[in-house]
Amino acid sequence: LWLAVGIRRRQPGEPAVENGFIPYLGCALQFGANPLQFLRSRQKKYGHIFTCKIAGQYIHFLCDPFSYHSVIKQGRHLDWRKFHFATSVKAFGHDSFDPRHGHTTENLHQTFLKTLQGEALPSLIESMMGHLQDVMLRSDTLSPCKDYWEVDGIFAFCYKVMFESGYLTLFGKDLGEDKIQAQQAAQKALVLNTLENFKEFDKIFPALVAGLPIHVFKSAYSARENLAKTMNAENLSKRENVSDLISMRMILNDSLSTFNDVSKARTHVALLWASQANTLPATFWSLFYMIRSPEAMKGACEEVQKILKDSGLTVDPSDPTLKLTRDQLDNMPVLDSIIKEAMRLSSASMNVRVAKEDFLLHLDNQKAYRIRKDDVIALYPPMLHYDPEIYEDPYEFKFDRFLDEKGQEKPTFYRSGRRLRYFNMPFGSGVTKCPGRFFALYEIKQFLTLVLSYFDMELLEPAIKVPPLDQSRAGLGILQPTYDVDFRYKLRSNH
Ligand code: HEM
Repeated sequence: LWLAVGIRRRQPGEPAVENGFIPYLGCALQFGANPLQFLRSRQKKYGHIFTCKIAGQYIHFLCDPFSYHSVIKQGRHLDWRKFHFATSVKAFGHDSFDPRHGHTTENLHQTFLKTLQGEALPSLIESMMGHLQDVMLRSDTLSPCKDYWEVDGIFAFCYKVMFESGYLTLFGKDLGEDKIQAQQAAQKALVLNTLENFKEFDKIFPALVAGLPIHVFKSAYSARENLAKTMNAENLSKRENVSDLISMRMILNDSLSTFNDVSKARTHVALLWASQANTLPATFWSLFYMIRSPEAMKGACEEVQKILKDSGLTVDPSDPTLKLTRDQLDNMPVLDSIIKEAMRLSSASMNVRVAKEDFLLHLDNQKAYRIRKDDVIALYPPMLHYDPEIYEDPYEFKFDRFLDEKGQEKPTFYRSGRRLRYFNMPFGSGVTKCPGRFFALYEIKQFLTLVLSYFDMELLEPAIKVPPLDQSRAGLGILQPTYDVDFRYKLRSNH
């Protein structure tokens, strides 16, 4: 009977099960309303691990940070590819990247490591720095002036500046001779169109991941297909300064896959999404919390001024060509701490693995639990990020939370006197950890350095409340604010 109604009964040695009240959905609605509150209440009731039915799937939530390692280490019982590849197919509509499905032999993970990390970083950094300054000061995206304040939403501002700069850094520019006005205008129109299509598609992303078919959302579907059109091989081949990531993916799509042209283009849309969807809100939270905290502003301004002075750079908005090396960016612990703290407060990515077979999951407290084949095991890092035993006053922004007494990066955090191996996980964990994480931190640091160098900035209401997080995207990464916050900016006059 249990099987007939799709309800699972706890077997000896398994975690406690909560089936929820609604068939199929299970606990999805309670979880969706406030995941952190839901998981905390179940943790209180059941302990370190428990199982919930969410939208037809049984998920074991592991809540003890000292046991995270048993899931994060690449054990032979756990599969990370199944969930990740399936999610990408659902959202972007390309053929599967899972080599077991026979459409490609590309090792995507290797492609990402080669083109987003190590030796690939200096050219990404240089390209981003150039585009950021072009967008802020040379194009007509913003029109900052010395004599009067320009008012904008902080999210709107970050979105415009980071989207255009990040997009051009990865996908290059349409035409080389950007001195010709008509071509410049066409280039600008393409970026704006891409931004609008991205926004339209991104709105329904959580619904796609939850399994709704994209055809239900007519305008989002055409937005995604429009994006794919701009990224087909013919259009991409006309672009200059395309990043190694995209050029290499084009070559590997052609040489190692049987994807058709549309599928190939959709794989590039997936990368556009991965490179922007978290970066945009992370930039918002970093700028918002920084402007709102006078101590953070002071610390950040001093750090930026020092780095510019030590490098002999002068800030000149009429010749915006500041350059910072990777080493210099590595040497900015205050900005680093501001960004990490802003992400601690806004990240909600779920870390997921699928059981390849029945096995015993060993926890830190010496207990072991039976896990069934195809069950999902999930970690929800906000449980760490908001744990008052790890982070004092966890709901407060403290710009120096990730700094030690010497003002350098604080490397260790404790819970109940024990050193934690995992305490800050906005980028996921283990093999599925975000391959773009180094570039992401650099680009937000570059953005903050440049706005602090070129602009005076103020909140319209200095004591404004922090906007609530939009929980509809919980599980997917950095959450957006439910509404934007206005600020004003003008060119600094003390150059
Ligand atoms: C995957 C976070 C920026 C490229 C991920 C994942 C997270 C994440 C949580 C999934 C990890 C998992 O499933 O366990 C972030 C955050 C960012 C950011 C918080 C910004 C603040 C970027 C950027 C790029 C990028 C700028 C590229 C330029 C990717 C790719 C994947 C990924 C390609 C998929 C990796 C795979 O499936 O193997 N990111 N990311 N990310 N991210 Fe990022």
